Amino acid sequence: MQILITGGTGLIGKQLCKALLAEGHELTVFSRNPASVPAKCGAGVHAIGALGEWHPGKTFDAVINLAGEPIVDARWTARRKQVLWDSRVTLTKELVRHIATAGRKPAVLISGSAVGYYGNRGDTAMYEAADAGEDFAAQLCKAWEDAAHAAEQVGVRVCLLRTGLILSNKGGLLGRMLPAFKLGLGARLGNGKQWMSWVHIDDYVAMVLKLLHDSFASGDQASLALASGPYNMTAPQPATNAEFTAALAKALHRPALFAAPAPLLRLAMGERAGLILEGQKVLPGKMTAAGYRFQYPNLDDALGNLFGR
Ligand SMILES: NC(=O)c1ccc[n+]([C@@H]2O[C@H](COP(=O)([O-])OP(=O)(O)OC[C@H]3O[C@@H](n4cnc5c(N)ncnc54)[C@H](OP(=O)(O)O)[C@@H]3O)[C@@H](O)[C@H]2O)c1
Repeated sequence: MQILITGGTGLIGKQLCKALLAEGHELTVFSRNPASVPAKCGAGVHAIGALGEWHPGKTFDAVINLAGEPIVDARWTARRKQVLWDSRVTLTKELVRHIATAGRKPAVLISGSAVGYYGNRGDTAMYEAADAGEDFAAQLCKAWEDAAHAAEQVGVRVCLLRTGLILSNKGGLLGRMLPAFKLGLGARLGNGKQWMSWVHIDDYVAMVLKLLHDSFASGDQASLALASGPYNMTAPQPATNAEFTAALAKALHRPALFAAPAPLLRLAMGERAGLILEGQKVLPGKMTAAGYRFQYPNLDDALGNLFGR
């Protein structure tokens, strides 16, 4: 297949490109720094520096849309919120405009979102049918999904990736947590009761491939119907922050005796502290129903795999 990927140079994108190349697909990655694409995504991967380079005569069989400015890295000023919005919602709208004008349209658009879609939901289990939350992250995810969903109007199957906290030993959440944990300074955040809906990157990539291939199953309406709409891209056993802290400390053979007080975190981080002090217990209802079998359903096994147990 010919596949266009935005965000292909990121933590998830690089791993996904590797898996797609191994299956023999031909990849084009949209990046603000196209010269970096072959080194990050694989020799032979084409690069475009603007979506305008996708001219109507060029055919892609599938589009995977992962681009987005990192959400946790900087304080949410009005300007930063606009950057976060433009890099997801505005870019996705532009992508869908290109899909709509393509001579032959891709069969499927697989587009990013996050478990933050649900907002802060306490201990209630969240399945795909639940409503979006009210906070900024939730509204950002909702608008991002709505922008992608518009591609259905031109006959493209759309899958939305409500992505959990990706566990990888190459960066992301664990990349941020490891320095303190390795020094034995790992700490529970606030009261530690907030849910963390995590997923091992190998499972994540395998689930994206499943969505891609299910959508290409020819003539099988039941299978086609499975691979559309939102998917909770999380492991089936989410953990509270206290459980996650203890599991990571155990995997690294370090103590984690501290607690970072919520007021201090809110002072230091402002509104985005909600990302780590609040949470949602998200379960992969549709993936499980579609028959996906997790390689790492259990947090200890996922961390053990990443840290060489
Ligand atoms: N990792 C997680 O735990 C997690 C959890 C939930 C949701 N997600 C979402 O899943 C997506 C991929 O995650 P990731 O961890 O792979 O992210 P990442 O490592 O931060 O990579 C993000 C990608 O987006 C592109 N990008 C960043 N800012 C952009 C902008 N202003 N305009 C266009 N492209 C931009 C970058 O490409 P170039 O620099 O090459 O242009 C980069 O490849 C993100 O949208 C993220 O919000 C991730």
